[in-house]
Amino acid sequence: MKNDRVIIFDTTLRDGEQCPGASMNLREKLEIARQLARLKVDVIEAGFPVISDGDFEAVRTIAKEIKGPIIAGLARCVTKDIDAAGEAVKPAGKRGRIHVFLATSKIHREFKLGKAQDEIIRLAVEGVKRAKSWVHDVEFSPEDGSRTEPEFLIEVCKAVVAAGATVVNIPDTVGWAVPDQYAALIKQLREAVPAFQNGKAIISVHCHNDLGLAVANSLAAVRAGARQVECTVNGIGERAGNASLEEIVMALHTRADFFGGIECGVVTKEIVKSSRLVSRMSGLIVQRSKAIVGENAFAHSSGIHQDGILKKRETYEIMDPQEVGWGLTELPLTKHSGRAAMAVRLKHLGFKMTEADVAGIFARFKEIGDKKKFVYDDDLTALVEGQITEVSETWSLEYIHVTSGNQTVPTATVRLKKAGAKKGEPDVLQDAGTGDGPVDAALKAIDRLTNTRGKLMDYQLRAVSQGKDALGEVTLKADFGNGEIITGKGASTDVIEASARAYLNAVNRHINSGKAKLKPAQP
Ligand code: KIV
Ligand code: ZN
Repeated sequence: MKNDRVIIFDTTLRDGEQCPGASMNLREKLEIARQLARLKVDVIEAGFPVISDGDFEAVRTIAKEIKGPIIAGLARCVTKDIDAAGEAVKPAGKRGRIHVFLATSKIHREFKLGKAQDEIIRLAVEGVKRAKSWVHDVEFSPEDGSRTEPEFLIEVCKAVVAAGATVVNIPDTVGWAVPDQYAALIKQLREAVPAFQNGKAIISVHCHNDLGLAVANSLAAVRAGARQVECTVNGIGERAGNASLEEIVMALHTRADFFGGIECGVVTKEIVKSSRLVSRMSGLIVQRSKAIVGENAFAHSSGIHQDGILKKRETYEIMDPQEVGWGLTELPLTKHSGRAAMAVRLKHLGFKMTEADVAGIFARFKEIGDKKKFVYDDDLTALVEGQITEVSETWSLEYIHVTSGNQTVPTATVRLKKAGAKKGEPDVLQDAGTGDGPVDAALKAIDRLTNTRGKLMDYQLRAVSQGKDALGEVTLKADFGNGEIITGKGASTDVIEASARAYLNAVNRHINSGKAKLKPAQP
């Protein structure tokens, strides 16, 4: 590898998905992986195969379907983890990577693992060797690396490289590092481990954002010699998240003068599309002022700035918004657009849909086309999301009627269709509920009909596209009493209907998770 190129290792589907409420189904992960391939990241960490059948299946499917990037699976230094990761990445052939990790810091050794330094080295070496029996490409991470004693960290690096690791990642697991100190550590490792100088292995960095320094730390590490950066789209991840991919890439790109022309292979025009897709699929909304991908990232409100921009864009804009994919949307569709035109648009947006998917999306497209003048790409993406979000739709919305006002008790009548109803059981059920407001009333009616009782933990409504007739998209999180927070999403021109669809989406996910404990219907 050229020494002036940095490898972009995307962990949106692994560390990103560890963000509470962000869990995604197989279809959603596959769509994201396809987009990451178009974005041309070098490595996709597709999951942690041993933790669930769903994770295993996701990594295996991505390894089979996605061409281009390396596909990595995470594993602890434990045989069953490594074997599961090896099996899962197998379909990727030579592009399969196993990423093994083991904590090395004093606090983790003493309080979490109860192991001495020599035992840690032995386990790390064994883990790398086991992974090596599956794949050529093995990465090792000393977890909590930034808080590990540097001398011990050097020993670990030498040992795992001798065992066959070609990438050694130094995670700032708890977001404790600061740029100068982290860069000094990377430099120290580079100087002390010959394999990092002769190209036998590279240093990777993986920074969490607890102090808001994940991107700064990653970039400082690149200047100090790191040649792989682990990051996520929109910076999603555990707690305060991981280093944000778009910020790393655009900093290297925009400030090539400072970073000495170190390149990465990311196609920057795909950034905004990737951001929106991840936001939709994960249910994690991007803050408006988020760098690069936030709605306001290129919005200039002050007159002085606007005037400057009109005279010369570079006066107030350090990046061209089009360079990251803003403003590249094409002519919107209308209700007169046919199924073929819609299918072409879906393909252009990068979605790989079955005939059945296209039929389902087209039915909703027609409903929406009747209510609003233009159907934009974002509207269409919201419909795709609605279509692929379910593993199987146990309950679907047939009808909703709501009465509300400041002098009436908000009441909702809801009719649902149940898939796979047993013989003699009605497959269409109708009930009504009252509540504090129309949304509450609709959700209560759904609870009664589906025999579930979800507690709403979070509720967000946003307009998908422009105009008063814009689609409203509701993203909510609900707790159905089994300790798991489930995200639900729904879109409609009617915000009450969007809320009902989002809640039903969460109910269906809950049922599909197999953890649903059906409670008696509410009185
Ligand atoms: O933050 C961390 O330490 C990790 C490792 C598994 C790389 O995510
Ligand atoms: Zn992490």
